[in-house]
Amino acid sequence: MADYKLLTEQLKALAEDEPNYMPVLSNAAAILYGSMDDLNWAGFYLMDKGSLLLGPFQGKVACIRIALGKGVCGTAARDDEAQLVENVHEFPGHIACDSASNSEVVIPLHKNGKVVGVLDIDSPSLARFKKEDLEGLTVFAKALEEVADFSGISFN
Ligand code: SME
Repeated sequence: MADYKLLTEQLKALAEDEPNYMPVLSNAAAILYGSMDDLNWAGFYLMDKGSLLLGPFQGKVACIRIALGKGVCGTAARDDEAQLVENVHEFPGHIACDSASNSEVVIPLHKNGKVVGVLDIDSPSLARFKKEDLEGLTVFAKALEEVADFSGISFN
């Protein structure tokens, strides 16, 4: 399993130089995609005009906009609840951006108590993500919320 503590330290160190959310999220996607095995996508969707808009990511091209409540990402954002999905094909309304994806973990991101987006990680393997991955990634996401400067963005 990835050393999430180390990845979180790496993220914090990079954000010290520049907290603007764009480089922070871009490097966060690179850190996760480069350090976790068996992934085909790692990145972010950010709230924009009432739906989720594609943000910084690593992997193949992805859906640009996702409605709240749609698929795994839209459900995580609407319900403000992390999703650990062993088989995405069994998830109601799953959006197949990449047919190679079989399992997925999505964690909501907050600013001032509001959901501003989600961290989304996909794998071609079934049940790739365990409870421990969710826990480690939740710590990583909390650090992101603390270090990323989202000012200037309305996230409505
Ligand atoms: N599968 C996701 C869509 C986003 S992509 O996988 C990058 C979902 O159902 O929310």
